[in-house]
Amino acid sequence: MKIFKFKSDLQSYLESIREEKILSFVPTMGALHLGHMSLIETAKHKSDIVICSIFVNPTQFNNPADLLKYPRNNEVDIKILEDLDCDILYLPEVIDLYNNNEKAKTFNFNGLDKFMEGSGRSGHFDGVATIIEKLFRIIKPNIAFFGLKDLQQLQIIKHVTMQLCLPIEIIGVETKREESGLAMSSRNSLLSEQEKGKSMLISETLNFIKDNSTILSIDELTKQSIKKFKNQNVLDLKYLEIVSLNTLQPISKLGEKNTNAACIAASISSVRLIDNIIF
Ligand code: PAF
Repeated sequence: MKIFKFKSDLQSYLESIREEKILSFVPTMGALHLGHMSLIETAKHKSDIVICSIFVNPTQFNNPADLLKYPRNNEVDIKILEDLDCDILYLPEVIDLYNNNEKAKTFNFNGLDKFMEGSGRSGHFDGVATIIEKLFRIIKPNIAFFGLKDLQQLQIIKHVTMQLCLPIEIIGVETKREESGLAMSSRNSLLSEQEKGKSMLISETLNFIKDNSTILSIDELTKQSIKKFKNQNVLDLKYLEIVSLNTLQPISKLGEKNTNAACIAASISSVRLIDNIIF
């Protein structure tokens, strides 16, 4: 695997090999887990060259403590990528991507950012879109892969890619789960086994919503789901929304099959977990 620390070197190398090849890109913030591995595997099947980036993007963290405690382990990540036969890793320092004191650009997400992760984390999606635009313009991949776990991020990236007229296909890849149902996330490494056990409530509630979606009204599904969180005191529910998959706006009536999504964010010992189900 070739490792590049500077965008100029990466760009020159990519220009020398790009011709007639399908380039796929998997952007990450490191602390790689089975979810990332499945993105890389999917990318390998769909392209000739797989480029992964590891960059903990400061502009998408509105809480500096969250940025500081974000898990980082480049050595282990490099070994994982090598074992997966990833072709290229871009591993820059902040200075390669941002000028001194550069802030996130402001985007118009057409309302996709107004709920859920957008309401409690002001500027978060501007930060995500800023880094993704930079990375897309440097790498110019044909396809880019993102986890469906971060559904709102995925829809926003699809929107921005279209808005900027970038000729990149965006593919969402199924969420990988622990045996308990807990969605895999780099943040899970900050949880004890006991906390992981308690966090199962998130995926259990999402399955409850999907399984009962044809029997109960949206209002009733929401009420009963929120009650499940009120009946315990370990997980702090931040939001539970049943939304339209495409617009991410809350719905009062179910749309056709697979056009609805239930999304949950909850924190446990100040670790924020998110998950969703499409139905
Ligand atoms: O999902 C992530 O890991 C990050 O938000 C991303 C897409 C790599 C941008 O920094």
